[in-house]
Order: sequence, then structure tokens, then C-alpha cells
Amino acid sequence: VIRMLIDADTGIDDSLAILHALKAPDVKVEGITTVFGNASVAQATDNTLRLIKLANPGYEVPVAMGAAKPLTREWAGPVSHVHGNNGIGDVDLPASEQQALSESAAQFIVRKANELGGELTLVTLGRLTNLAEALEIDPELPKKVKRVYIMGGTVFAPGNVTPKAEANFRGDPEAVAAVMKSGLKITMVGLDVTMKVRLTQQHLDAAAGYCRPENKPIVQYMNDALQHYFRFYWQVDNLMGACPTHDPLTVLVARMPWVVRTQTMKVSIETEGVYCAGSVVADLRTKPSEGHEIEVCVDVDAEKIPHHLLSVF
Ligand code: BDR
Ligand code: CA
Repeated sequence: VIRMLIDADTGIDDSLAILHALKAPDVKVEGITTVFGNASVAQATDNTLRLIKLANPGYEVPVAMGAAKPLTREWAGPVSHVHGNNGIGDVDLPASEQQALSESAAQFIVRKANELGGELTLVTLGRLTNLAEALEIDPELPKKVKRVYIMGGTVFAPGNVTPKAEANFRGDPEAVAAVMKSGLKITMVGLDVTMKVRLTQQHLDAAAGYCRPENKPIVQYMNDALQHYFRFYWQVDNLMGACPTHDPLTVLVARMPWVVRTQTMKVSIETEGVYCAGSVVADLRTKPSEGHEIEVCVDVDAEKIPHHLLSVF
């Protein structure tokens, strides 16, 4: 069983990733921490609590609220045109009785890593602010975490918020730089692979047919929330009834690393520049010397991903 802690800026694709993890038979979600990004951190926290109620995983999943803004910069505000006014495509899920913990996301990450003695897998789906803060609290954290799967960045593919930068990395470049040089074992699941996968209306319709009866409301929620996301990807990438799968693929890679091909690279994070702040500089020279070594996902078995993602329901 993979003991997983998910850090999310709970928007539409984050919500799919969270539901997948909560229903995957080989995953125990040890907790979910939240961060600003797609929505405010308060909204992301509320969304997360509602999603846990919807999934009803059969065990308790603590939630800890994290950073409301980047380490050193100002936050530009939620991206309602991508994720809706409430972050989850304006779907109104029933409220939860569960409360967030009183400790912060960073404190919670540190506590869990220490409790689980090397068994904790981290999956980050938003800005890396919480993880950077956790590293400040406990500089020994890299020795205690099994591996971090990070949704963010791109090496070969274009950026999505600037020609060169991806949203999660752009949203707090200083945090990404701190995480990359920390010594954590990192697998970067960036736009190089997430943009290659297409989740479509057809996949959802099929899932509505084959899902277990108790998961019908989950599939219905995904269908409703994704309508908003489909509209956005129709506008930016000319996709019809389809979207890429950033955050869900990242959880999947943590479960099934064989669905991607990775390449070990030395990377640095650019923290300056109009276009390049938050972009990944990979040293691809014959004898790389600049940056810190991580695993970068460079290719994916794209056709199989939607089935892997939806068959847990
Ligand atoms: C990332 O940005 C957010 O909008 C998504 O949830 C995903 O984590 C993609 O660049
Ligand atoms: Ca996200």
C-alpha cells in the first residue's frame, strides 16, 4: 500500500486526482494539505473536505490548510476562467461536517514524514509553497520522505502561463527552487507528459456505464466539473469535449511508475525574467554540471491513462 500525502490547490483536475487516490485500492491517503492557486486556500480547503465526503473512503483523511500566498511574492488571485468561481467548475457539492486540522500544512507534512519513518510518498499538485515551508521547519525531511511526485514544470513542451513556464512553478518560483535543491527524491510530472494525455467526454460516458453503483455520484460530479474545464481547453487548445490530465496523471505515476518514461536530469529553476520566472532549466549538455538531479517524465503511454484513471470507480 502506498502511503500518500497529497498537497493540492483543489481545482478541477486536482479534484479528479484526489478522488482517484481516495478510491485506488493500493493507496492509503494519509492526509491532504491545501495551498492557494486555482482558488484561495480557504476555498481549496473547503473543496477538499467536500470531496472526501463525496468519496467516502471508509477511513479518516485529515486535511491541513496551508499557504495563502507565495513565499516572497504577491498572489495574482484565483483563475476562475479555468476552474470556475468555486475552483471545482461551480459544482455545488454537499458541505462536510469535517473540519481542517489546527496545524498548518507544513507542520502536518513534517509530522507525517516523521511518523511514517521513510514510508511517506508525497504528491504535490499545486504551488510548492507548503513543501518549501516544511523543509524550513525540518531540513532533514529529504531523508524521511520516500519520494515526491511533483505536478509542474516542463522541459521540452511549451509552458502554459507563459511560453516557457507552467502554472504551478510560475506561481512560486522561489519555493520550487528550494524544493529542487533540497535533496528530496523527485519525479517531475510536467507538461511534457500531462499535455499528451486526453480525457474525453466519451471516457466519462463509458465510466458512467461501468462504475460501481456506489460511485455513480463521483462519476456524475467529475462529468459536471469537467464541462467547465472542457470549455477552457476548447478556448486555449482547440480541444473538443476533452482536456489534458495534469494532476490525475501525477497521482497515477506515483501508483504505476511504468506508465511513463523518465530521464535523469540536472535541473535549475529560473526565478527571474518576464517570460522565464518559474521555468525549468535542464542541463542537457553531454557533461551536465548545473543544477540538481531529479527524474523528469519525458514520455507517457497516453492511450492507456484514461482507463487507468477511471477504472478505480
Ligand atoms: C497545473 O495548474 C493548475 O491549474 C492545475 O490544477 C495543474 O496542477 C497545470 O499547469
Ligand atoms: Ca493543481
